[in-house]
Amino acid sequence: MSRKILVCITGASGAVYGVHLIRQLKGLGHEVHLLVTKWGEVTLKHETGMSAEDLEKEAHQRYREDDLAAGPASGSFPLDAVAIVPCSMKTLAGIAHGYADNLVARAADCALKERRKLVIVPRETPLNLIHIRNMAAVTEAGAIVMPASPAFWHHPETIEDLVSSLVERIMVHLGVLEKPSIEWTGE
Ligand SMILES: Cc1cc2nc3c(=O)[nH]c(=O)nc-3n(C[C@H](O)[C@H](O)[C@H](O)COP(=O)(O)O)c2cc1C
Repeated sequence: MSRKILVCITGASGAVYGVHLIRQLKGLGHEVHLLVTKWGEVTLKHETGMSAEDLEKEAHQRYREDDLAAGPASGSFPLDAVAIVPCSMKTLAGIAHGYADNLVARAADCALKERRKLVIVPRETPLNLIHIRNMAAVTEAGAIVMPASPAFWHHPETIEDLVSSLVERIMVHLGVLEKPSIEWTGE
C-alpha cells in the first residue's frame, strides 16, 4: 500500500541519508513529501552537490519551512509518517519543547499529537546534556530516535553500503519495509 511520507532534511551533516531515503521510498511507490530547511539546503549542496530544486524533482510535493499554512502544519493532513533525516540539534530542541516555529517542528508536533510515526535521525558529536535530554524528551513523547551512526558488523565496503544500512533501518521504523536486507543471523 502506498504511504504518504514527509521527509525533512535539516542542516545537520548527513544529507545523503535523506536523499537515499527519498529514493528508496519512491522506488517502493510511496508518496514522498519533501521539506528542506535553509541550512538543510546548505549542507545538501556542500555534501552532495545537489540543490533542493534537484531533489524536488524526485518528490511528489515540496514545502517551504516558513509555510505554516501548508498541509503538514495540520494534524488533519493525512500523512502516514514523518522522517527528519538528518536532524540538527536545533530542530531536535524545537520538537522537544513544542516550539513549532517552522514547518519541520510543526509537522513533527502534529505527528506526535496524532500518534503517527515520527522518526528523528539526529547527527552531532559529542553530545551535550541538552542534546541528550532533548532526545529523551522526544522519545517520551513517542518519537523514534535513530542516531546517524551506521554499524560495521556487516562489513560495508562503500559509503553507499553504510548509508543504505541505516536507511533500511529507518524504513523499517517508518513501517514501509518488513525487514532490512542485512540481518544479524547469530551464526
Ligand atoms: C556544513 C555544516 C554542517 C553542520 N552540521 C551540523 C550537525 O551535524 N549537527 C547539528 O546539529 N548542526 C549542524 N550544523 C549547524 C546547523 O545547520 C544549524 O544549527 C542550523 O541552525 C540548523 O537549522 P535547521 O535545523 O533549521 O536546519 C551544521 C552547519 C553547517 C553549515
